[in-house]
Amino acid sequence: MKIPESLAKEGRKKLADYPVEGFVYGSGPQNPAMMLVGEAPGETEIHNGIPFSGRAGKELMKFLEKLGLQREEVYITASVRSRPYRWGEKKERDGTTTKRKYNRPPTAKEIYAHAPLLDYEIDHVNAPVIVTLGNIGLRRLKGKDYKITESHGQLIQGPVLRADPDGYSWTEKEYRVFPTFHPASVFYNRSLQDKINEDVETLRNILAET
Ligand code: URA
Repeated sequence: MKIPESLAKEGRKKLADYPVEGFVYGSGPQNPAMMLVGEAPGETEIHNGIPFSGRAGKELMKFLEKLGLQREEVYITASVRSRPYRWGEKKERDGTTTKRKYNRPPTAKEIYAHAPLLDYEIDHVNAPVIVTLGNIGLRRLKGKDYKITESHGQLIQGPVLRADPDGYSWTEKEYRVFPTFHPASVFYNRSLQDKINEDVETLRNILAET
C-alpha cells in the first residue's frame, strides 16, 4: 500500500519551510498482521527511504522477531515522514568542532502538517491492531491525555484522532490501539527492555486471537 503521490506532495509542501529533510513513505501490505506507527525518520531512513532501517530499526526487528513476524508482514509508518533536525556542534578527536544535524522530536505543527498522510493509511490499511511506538504516535492517535509510561501494554479500543481543517476530531470508527515504547528508548534507558518484553507477550496473545 502506498499513499497517493498528491498527498505526499502536499505533505512535502506544507513542511518546505521547516527544519526537516527527506521524505519516507510508509511501507507494507494492505492487509498486514499489524500497523506500527513511529515518530519520524532519522538520517539512515531519509537516505535509503526505508522506515526503521537505522539503529532503532534493528531494535524493532528484534521486537518483530519475538512476535514471530517479519518486516514484510507488517505495515510500518510514522507520525511525520521527514526527518526533523536541529543544528548542533560535534567535537572531533583533534579538538576541532564541526556543525552537524541532530535528530529532534517533531513539533505539534509538523505532526499536524503530515497528519492527513497517516489518516489515509489508517483508512486504507486493514490492520487488526495499530501499535504505536513511543509517546508521539500514541498522542497523535489518542490525544495528549495519554502517556506511554501509563498506557503501554494495554489494548485501547475506541476512536482515533484524525486531522480536519481546524485541528483534530475523533473518528466514528473504532480502532484497536496498542501502545508500547519506541524501540530507541532502550538506548537511553536499558531498564525499559523488561517492560517491552512484557508488552511483546501481551501483544503476541492479542495477535493470536485476531
Ligand atoms: N523512528 C521512527 O519513528 N521511524 C523511523 O523510520 C526511524 C526511527
